[in-house]
Amino acid sequence: MTGESVTQGCPVTPQGCPVSDRAAAFTPFGDEYQHDPGAALAWAREEEPVFYSPELGYWVVTRYEDVKAVFRDNITFSPSIALEKITPTITEADEVLRSYGYAMNRTLVNEDEPEHMPRRRVLMEPFTAPALVEREDMVRRMAREAVDAFVDDGEVDLVTEMLYQVPLTVAMRFLGVPEEDIGPLKEYSVAHTVNTWGRPKPEEQVRVAHAVGNFWQYAGHVLDKIRQDPSGPGWMQYSVRRQAEHPDVVTDSYLHSIMMAGIVAAHETTAHAAANAVKLLLERRERWEELCAHPALIPNAVEECLRHSGSVAAWRRVATTDTEVGGVPIAEGAKLLIVQATANRDPRHFEDAERFDPRRESAGEHLTFGYGAHQCMGKNLARMELQIFLQELTTRLPHLELVEQDFQYVPNTSFRGPEHLRVRWDPARNPERHDPQVLNVRHPVTIGEPSKHAISRAMTVTHVERVAERVVRIRLEEPDGKPLPAWTSGAHIDVDCVDGDEVLTRQFSLCGPAEDHHAYEIGVLLETDSRGGSRWVHENAVEGATFHVRGPRNHFRLDADAERLVLVAGGIGITPVLAHADRAKSMGLDYEIHYAGRAAEHMAFLDRLRSDHGDRLHTYASAEGHRLDLARVLADVRAGTQVYACGPDRMVQALEELAESWPEPGALHVEHFSSALGALDPSIEHAFDVVLSDSGLTLRVPPDKTVLHTLREHNIDIQSDCEEGLCGSCEAPVLAGDVDHRDVVLGRGDRAAHSRMMTCCSRAHGDRLVLQL
Ligand code: HEM
Repeated sequence: MTGESVTQGCPVTPQGCPVSDRAAAFTPFGDEYQHDPGAALAWAREEEPVFYSPELGYWVVTRYEDVKAVFRDNITFSPSIALEKITPTITEADEVLRSYGYAMNRTLVNEDEPEHMPRRRVLMEPFTAPALVEREDMVRRMAREAVDAFVDDGEVDLVTEMLYQVPLTVAMRFLGVPEEDIGPLKEYSVAHTVNTWGRPKPEEQVRVAHAVGNFWQYAGHVLDKIRQDPSGPGWMQYSVRRQAEHPDVVTDSYLHSIMMAGIVAAHETTAHAAANAVKLLLERRERWEELCAHPALIPNAVEECLRHSGSVAAWRRVATTDTEVGGVPIAEGAKLLIVQATANRDPRHFEDAERFDPRRESAGEHLTFGYGAHQCMGKNLARMELQIFLQELTTRLPHLELVEQDFQYVPNTSFRGPEHLRVRWDPARNPERHDPQVLNVRHPVTIGEPSKHAISRAMTVTHVERVAERVVRIRLEEPDGKPLPAWTSGAHIDVDCVDGDEVLTRQFSLCGPAEDHHAYEIGVLLETDSRGGSRWVHENAVEGATFHVRGPRNHFRLDADAERLVLVAGGIGITPVLAHADRAKSMGLDYEIHYAGRAAEHMAFLDRLRSDHGDRLHTYASAEGHRLDLARVLADVRAGTQVYACGPDRMVQALEELAESWPEPGALHVEHFSSALGALDPSIEHAFDVVLSDSGLTLRVPPDKTVLHTLREHNIDIQSDCEEGLCGSCEAPVLAGDVDHRDVVLGRGDRAAHSRMMTCCSRAHGDRLVLQL
């Protein structure tokens, strides 16, 4: 912990309170957090990423990796407090609740293992992709009717007239709540939010308790009705039917509790997310217009809205044992507020994290839906609704504008969205008045991962220069000269090399000046055994040409806290190393560069390296008898030294062998551009089973599908990024079986242990693997 400390009455550390002044001053119930929780805690993410908040009595966790790690481990960090009242109630309010028989208990989101997973599994079917497709027409019709009602008015509160109302009706239909019963739900839902995640004053608590008590009884009454006729398509009817088969898994207490909590889970979250999304886009007019012009961007834009301005800002867990988070000791019983809003804008994970970019490839890695065993079951329904709302509004009201207004939020830690969103437009300019055909256009909804090709950016080649034998430096700019997403050293872009119907995607490290926000520069070697990518680039890189580009993404980040950096490059591997060297220099770090090539004329960027990095640069030209001796150069890798390398496979292998004797296991960082290891050739692959220990499922992986693909088909959530075995995001723990490792992420020791695998490319040697999923 850092920062100055306040000293009195520490409940955590008797030997002296470690709470800094800023931590002591933090409140999630004030305007700053309510308006933008991500920004309100940005200071903590940078200076004190895990801190104790005396106001809450919680540890607050703010970095992406830490928040994800807490979500991932639902045994050490139990979700049992997820629906607990964050503000203890006064006796009078408790009595009011008791008078209604209020007994909110375990649902799914606050259930521990081993009870949770069997229940989730038994109740999952209505959330699967085939079941959701059945709901699409209903959502579309409701969205359309909502817009029909105000399209000629010229001004409306979008929350009241559409973004609150439609998700409410969809949620009720999804759950199977009879529509005549939805009258008082708005008041009830707000009361539940304040009761669970808010800080009501004592006098307010009694009023809230009455509303929550009524909500509880209402839920019981609706459930009774459903029990009388459980034949409908709703999730609650389905649950009642499943109870008959699994009475110990789907209990009465569960059904009553989920009847109430499920309404809020399915409705408030989505309504807020929709209002946040439209507000965010209209505040960035050019982004709104981009979606109007390119509706195929909408599925990814929805992910970016959820990342940048999600509707669940923070979630809760409690430690079940003494443990640590981000290096901070956490005692058994300590409560954690894990702030997705801050994690989602962590620059350690997202390049140019503050920027809202509907083309961001990693947008879907946000934590707004949680992560791991409890990850939101309704996420694909929510995504479908959000996509349809944006499609409907951008098509029918592209000229929509925000009215100037003060946005109000219900003060609480977790649920976030403006209570009203006033917008206006000129009905005379409504596209459907001039061309009724616009109403017939139907944009597809994406369930699952948005299409990568839809989000590529058309960039113009503005400069091409030969910088070594067979190497060109290429400068790419936006055609309209707009600034590009910023990047940090180690980042790369993906270039789509389009040849007829065939699209080959190739990664190239950025190597221009990182402070130039108007261009990306890459260096490309014409490979002799090119699979087509580098040849395509060399043939097509002429000034004025258009390249389709995605990214930047970064799997090769520099550790800015390292005491000493050794940067090793072989051949064209100099491109990311050059960017690292520039950054190390600008940060005043201790670094050295070792750059090996065949001969000086084959070594790109030598002049720039010499002039910018002087005697930090060591070059080795083998044709001139001067070979890079890695063992000698790396003879003295002490603790605190980090080695970053990019180059041919044999160089990487030699480095991996050397790294086995270094004091810190993770000191070697290697950039791999691409890997053919994961490419599937069904004619030589065999099918095998993956047994999922947590989910209790056995899935068959056919020869033409990856494990990742098979998991996704069965609604098992797993993150992924590069899908080539390069980045490590789709890792799964392996409990048994002989893994055929095909990634380049795991080192030799990890491979031999067979305890982890990259599901995007690795397979089984035998006919069965057991994964802890
Ligand atoms: C769980 C967010 C929409 C049903 C969760 C969790 C979060 C969340 C943060 C806890 C995850 C964890 O502990 O790892 C959201 C957001 C939504 C949304 C941001 C909209 C944008 C929905 C919808 C439904 C739903 C529409 C139902 C139709 C559930 C259920 C769980 C859950 C049943 C419990 C899953 C479990 O514990 O196994 N959601 N949710 N959610 N959500 Fe959502």
